[in-house]
Formats: sequence, C-alpha cells, structure tokens
Amino acid sequence: MCGTDHSHDHDHGPFGFLVDTPEIRALIGETERMMGSDADPSSRVNALKPAFAKLLSSDGWLPDQLAQPDEKSRMGDGIGQYALYRAEDGSLCLFSLVVPPGASTPVHDHLAWGLVGIYRGEQDETVYRRLDDGSNPAQAQLEVAKRQELRPGDLYALIPPTDDIHYVKTISESASISIHLLANDTACVWRHKYDPASGAVTPFRSGYANAPCPAEQSTTSSSS
Ligand SMILES: [Fe+2]
Repeated sequence: MCGTDHSHDHDHGPFGFLVDTPEIRALIGETERMMGSDADPSSRVNALKPAFAKLLSSDGWLPDQLAQPDEKSRMGDGIGQYALYRAEDGSLCLFSLVVPPGASTPVHDHLAWGLVGIYRGEQDETVYRRLDDGSNPAQAQLEVAKRQELRPGDLYALIPPTDDIHYVKTISESASISIHLLANDTACVWRHKYDPASGAVTPFRSGYANAPCPAEQSTTSSSS
C-alpha cells in the first residue's frame, strides 16, 4: 500500500511524498485510483493526462534543489534525476529529470507504462523501434521510429514495448526539466542503455540524486 502521509527512511528509502504539495498529491491520488481499476495501461494513461497536464501547468511546486543539474550523475552529462514520490512497493514513482543545455540522455528504456511531460525548457526526443526479437540480451537492432520537439506543457505516454526506447536532448538555452510518472521505481530498477550503432545493450540503474536505491546486486555488467 502506498500513499503514506510523509516520506520515511528504510534501508532503501525514503518513500512516499519526498515533495509534498497539493498538486503532487492530486496526481498520485488519481493515479492510485486508476491503478485500482481494471483499465489497461493505454486507458490509464489517457485518463491521467488531465491531472498530469495540471501539474505541468502549475508553478511553484518543484523545489529549486530538485531542478538543478547533478555533477555526480550516473546518466552522465550532468543529468539530474530526483524522486518526488515513490510508492514503497515499487509500483509507482514521480520524478524530475534535469538535462543541461546541449546534453543528451543515453538511449534507454523504462520498462513500465507512464506519462512524461515537459515542465521547463525544450527537448528533442528520438524514439527507436526494435527490429530483432529480443532473444539476445546483449544486442538490439534499433531504427529511428520518430523524432519530436517538445515544449513546456507537451506530454507523451510510454506504453512498453511500443515506443519504450528513446533519448532526449535539451535544445533550449536553459536546462530542460521533464516530469515522469511511471509504474515502477524507475531509477532503481535494472533497465537498459543502448548503442544504436553497435547494437550493444548494457544493463544500468540510473539512480536518484536524492534517494538511495536498494543495495547493488552483483551482476556481470557494470553500470559505468
Ligand atoms: Fe526516458
């Protein structure tokens, strides 16, 4: 059960509302109601778009320290990823992603349905489609499926496996800040980075700058 009244530490916390504002509570409450319904992921994200758009159009709820680049970023390029809400059971999270001007994320996947929207700045998003059958965990054959420019208020759905692999680049003169609502604990799950040129697939955990993940499992791959 999520929806704790305040964030609290566990061995791999904190969980709950790391940023506790009415706007965030409204969106998380609506999402939990949808997750308790029979709706499929596509219907869920469509039903959540109005509440998500309302958060994107509201000012003043994102603390300055969660809107800054992170020099210690595990995604590289000073990209900051900050948890705003984390369900303790790993079923849901809300986070901000701060991408400095000119910086790009790695090509990556998310492994959960959700919504992403632009709060500040502008991004160029490149989405890939996978051409192979996924049977080789270390290799993927990717081709560009679409590109789009995103401005504040723009939002899009992630519904794996379609459109789950992408990267974003900040094209504004100031950092872009995107807000992500996803049905997992995105920064703490083992997901994948892709090199479209070589086809290499690398497991990684991006991590939150403001909340630790469970202890690293020993794996054969490093997250470099
Ligand atoms: Fe992403």
